[in-house]
Amino acid sequence: MTEKATLLIGNERYEFPLLSGSENEKCIDIGNLRATTGCITMDPGYGNTGSCYSSITYVDGKNGVLRYRGYPIEELAEKIGFVEAAYLILYGELPTISQLNDFRLALAEHAPIHTNLEHHFSGFPKSAPPMAILSAMLNLVSCFHPEVLDVHSEGPGFDRTVALLLSKVRTIAAFSYRMAAGKPLNHPNPNLSYCNNFLHMMFSEPYQEYQPHEVIEKALSLFLVLHADHEQNCSTSTVRVVGSSRANLFSSVSAGVCALWGPLHGGANTAVVKMLEDIRTSGKPLDHYLDRAKDRNDHFRLMGFGHRVYKNFDPRSLILKKRVYDVLNQLQKDDPLLEIALRLEEKTLKDDYFICRNLYPNVDFYSGILLRAIGIPLNMYNVLFAIGRMPGWISNWRELLEHKQRISRPRQIYTGSTSRAFVPAEER
Ligand code: CMC
Repeated sequence: MTEKATLLIGNERYEFPLLSGSENEKCIDIGNLRATTGCITMDPGYGNTGSCYSSITYVDGKNGVLRYRGYPIEELAEKIGFVEAAYLILYGELPTISQLNDFRLALAEHAPIHTNLEHHFSGFPKSAPPMAILSAMLNLVSCFHPEVLDVHSEGPGFDRTVALLLSKVRTIAAFSYRMAAGKPLNHPNPNLSYCNNFLHMMFSEPYQEYQPHEVIEKALSLFLVLHADHEQNCSTSTVRVVGSSRANLFSSVSAGVCALWGPLHGGANTAVVKMLEDIRTSGKPLDHYLDRAKDRNDHFRLMGFGHRVYKNFDPRSLILKKRVYDVLNQLQKDDPLLEIALRLEEKTLKDDYFICRNLYPNVDFYSGILLRAIGIPLNMYNVLFAIGRMPGWISNWRELLEHKQRISRPRQIYTGSTSRAFVPAEER
C-alpha cells in the first residue's frame, strides 16, 4: 500500500502519496496540490523541492557521500580517468575496453572545429571572459551541425552528438584562451589523450610542442572526474529548465555555462584563489577575513566554504586536498596559497560561526590551487569546471527527454499592486 502524507489546511484534510527513491530518500508527491487545495508551495532557492527523478548521481550531504551511477567518488577518482567517467555518467555502465576505445576514437574524430566557426574567435575582444566565449560558441556549434537541432535522446545520432559536444567543448575552451592571449591556435592532435590534447591546444607553441607531464595529465583528469556531475545543482537545473522547452542540447548546455559562471557556483574556484592571493598580499591576519565573513553587513563570504547539500564535509574537497600535496611534491613546487588555505580551514573548524552553520571547504576550495599547480591560467578555472560538468549536463538533458518531463514553469505569489485605474500621461 502506498504510504500517505497528510496535510491539514484549516479543517480540511488532504492526503498525498509519500514516495521514496532507491536510497530511501522520501518525497511528498504534491502534483495535485494546487488542483485539490488551491495552494502552491513556496520554496525560493528550491532547498526543499525535488524537480525530477534521476538515476545518474546520488549525493548524501549528511554523510559526505557522492556516487556516479552507484560507484563511490573516492574509488572512481582513484581508478578511472575522465573519459571513462564520462562514459559511465552518459551511458549508465562502466565501458568495456572496446566500448572505451570506440568512445575515445569518436572524441578524437570530433575535436576539430569548422574553419568558419574558428573565424568567430577573432570577433571577440581580447578582454572577453572565456566563459562568455564558451557559452556563445557552444550555441554556435549547432549552426554548423544542424543535425543536432533535431532533438534525440538515443541511437547513433545521440552518440554522435555526445562525442561532438564533449570533444568540441575542449577545443573551443583552448582556442578562447589562445585568442585572448594573442597566440596562434593549436589544432587538435588525434593521437593524444583527451587531457593531453587539451593541454597541447592550450600550451604548445609554434617553436615548442608542449610535452605532457604524466602528473599534470592525471591531475587534470582527476579534476574533471570530480566535477563530472553533481545532481540538481544550479547549472544542471538550468540545463534541464532550458531543455524542458525541447530546446536543443547545445543551447541547453550553453545556458548551463552561463549559470556556472557565477561566483556562488563554478566561479568559486577563481574567487578562492583571488581571495587567498588577497590574504597573502594584504598582510592582514586571517581573523580579519573571518570577521568580515561573519559580519552580516559585509557582503564578503569565505569563498570555497559552505554547500547547499553537504553539511559535514564535501568528499571532493578531501580528495583534492590530498592530491594538491602530491602534485606539488611531484612537480617540486611550493605554493604559499596552500599554506594559507590550510590555516584558514583549521581556523574555521574551531569557529562557532562556521561550526553552527555547517560550513566546510567545498570542491572549489582546493581545486584552484590544484589548477594553479599544473599551470592553468586563472581565467580558465571556471571553463575547466564547465568541461568537467559536460557529461552531467548531457545526461540530465537526456534523462529529461526520456522521462518526457513537462516544461518547467514554476508558479509565484504576486505581491504587486492590485487592479487600479489607468492614469493618462498628462494627468500623472
Ligand atoms: N562564508 C560566510 N558565511 C557563509 C558562507 C560563506 N562561504 N556560506 C554560507 N554562509 C552563511 C550564510 O550567511 C547564512 O548565515 P545566516 O544563517 O546567519 O544567515 C548561512 O551560512 C547559510 O547560508 P546560505 O547562503 O543560506 O546557504 P546556501 O545553501 O543558500 O548557499 C553556497 C550555499 C555554496 C552558495 C554558500 O555557502 C556560499 O555562498 N559559499 C561561498 C561560494 C562557494 O564557495 N560556492 C561554491 C559552492 S560548491 C560548488 C558549486 O556548486 O559550484
